[in-house]
Amino acid sequence: LANEVAGEEKPWSPAQDESTLEFVTRLFAEAIKRAAPSLKDQDPVVQRCAIASFGDFQCNAPMGIFKALKGQGDTSYNSPRAVGAAIADNLPPNSVLVSASVAPAGFVNAKIDNALLGDFCREVAQKGKAPPPPIKAFGGKRKVLVDFSSPNIAKEMHVGHLRSTIIGDTICRVLEYCGHDVHRINHVGDWGTQFGMLISHMEEAYPDFTSNPPNITDLTVFYKNAKKRFDDDEAFKKKSRETVVALQAGDPRCREIWALLCDISRKEFARVYKRLGVTLEEVGESHYNSMIPNAISLLEKAGLTTDSDGATTVFLEGHSFPLIVKKSDGGFGYDSTDIAAIHHRLKTLGVDWVVYVTDLGQAEHFHMCFEAAEKAGWTSSEGRLCHVGFGVVQGEDGKRFKTRSGETVRLVDLLDESVTRMEKSLKDRVAEGKCALSPDEVKSAAEKIGYGAVKYADLHQHPATNYKFSYDKMLSTSGNTAVYLLFAHARLASIVRKASAKGVDAKKAASNKMDLCAHPKERALAFELTQFSGVVASVAEEFLPVRVCDYLYKVSCKFTEFVTECKVLDDARMAERVVLCEATGVVMRACFDLLGIEYLMQI
Ligand code: ARG
Repeated sequence: LANEVAGEEKPWSPAQDESTLEFVTRLFAEAIKRAAPSLKDQDPVVQRCAIASFGDFQCNAPMGIFKALKGQGDTSYNSPRAVGAAIADNLPPNSVLVSASVAPAGFVNAKIDNALLGDFCREVAQKGKAPPPPIKAFGGKRKVLVDFSSPNIAKEMHVGHLRSTIIGDTICRVLEYCGHDVHRINHVGDWGTQFGMLISHMEEAYPDFTSNPPNITDLTVFYKNAKKRFDDDEAFKKKSRETVVALQAGDPRCREIWALLCDISRKEFARVYKRLGVTLEEVGESHYNSMIPNAISLLEKAGLTTDSDGATTVFLEGHSFPLIVKKSDGGFGYDSTDIAAIHHRLKTLGVDWVVYVTDLGQAEHFHMCFEAAEKAGWTSSEGRLCHVGFGVVQGEDGKRFKTRSGETVRLVDLLDESVTRMEKSLKDRVAEGKCALSPDEVKSAAEKIGYGAVKYADLHQHPATNYKFSYDKMLSTSGNTAVYLLFAHARLASIVRKASAKGVDAKKAASNKMDLCAHPKERALAFELTQFSGVVASVAEEFLPVRVCDYLYKVSCKFTEFVTECKVLDDARMAERVVLCEATGVVMRACFDLLGIEYLMQI
């Protein structure tokens, strides 16, 4: 093909940092310009081929171009297929595509050079790193603030917070991998009216709390008791209301009790984060309290506020209720805090992108805050404000996830259960001789796999779907589960180890120029590995961790097909195949890292 159209033209090559897809898209755009010069700015619509045997990338533009030409009365081509053929003929000579064929319906299927796929895999195996997408794909390095997890003080973290923590952590990991400046912010609910009753209850139930601080092992019980007093006793209710005012005015005693409550909660949250391997910086609601009046006055100046029965509100088109930035009693609430926070983040901290991860129920609240910020002129044209909403966690009965006695499930119990079950299943494997881990190793492996299973079960579907929490499903060794993937990876690592013991070191072998695509299953796997950075880029753009899971699963399936058909150890192609195994291992480990799942080299 290159020779046919080459003529005098110098072959085109990808620019530095240009992905294969981008380059192929650029080639097709040029070919379209040449084949249909009268049309301006045609999108070449280049995608991965739906059917791998047809090729690697397909250009879907010919049908549209045929219609567009016909519309202008241009009859140079008599069918989409003729357009496709002209596009294929006009592809500039280049260093990437080795063939282009036209399907009857007109699309052009193109295949890329095997040497390119092989070189990519050798480099990945040698460097031990899967390349991130180029930072220029995002218009440069961005300062990103991810607001996630964000449980409420004095309340137990529930499965909803687990989802936010897991999804938010993966989004952060992906953005960090791309090289952005990421701020992981825990917007804890440490302010608001509930503190009135909590502080009043503390004063009542533990009058000597300063000299004799209570050992509150279960803040949920404390919260419930306070709430009961609040609901049952008018005098207590009145006192609680006054206490909120005193707290907000900075009363030292109230502040002291408040700080004590925050501290107890903080310790509990920290235990969960430690187990999950998640880091967060706590900047709670209280942090923004002093910034609220200024933010409100900016909204007022922008003409966005309305007085509604003494409350200051912001009405936005298409929403049936307003943002309440100041209540009629002069108090500030959730809306006030988020308005001050968004202003602070955009204007004071100079954050480019802000991503919020909460349940879908809060989507409208955030979209209203985004709109208000935009109308107030706080946003910039390259800036992004996103809400990633997630659905409800359900029990196997399809109802909201509860314990047998109807209580909300405590996060720590849930994680413990997953680990316990995994430990049992690993012990059974040891007993059956399927696995050679020592008792200590079983314990640590069970933790990694148990936590990984919970994370993966959450991440492997679109966040907006409700999902049924099922230990049996998430801990299954087959299907799209963390357990299956971790086992597959450990098997792969063992092949690489065995080859090394036989004198073929994957990293060393990778430094030799070699054909890694001689067998169709080798090529299919190699091609899949080259897709890594594109997947990462798409997650960094759309904040959908599920794409990493889908990709990881696909890689694992392609790997299984490869090892099923291609013998690795002691084969004539052992060196080539071990390099492919190693490159696959590097890419799988990069995916596990992005998902916050700890992998094992041996199970
Ligand atoms: N504390 C809230 C909750 O438990 C989530 C906070 C989300 N972040 C925010 N900036 N409002 O639902």
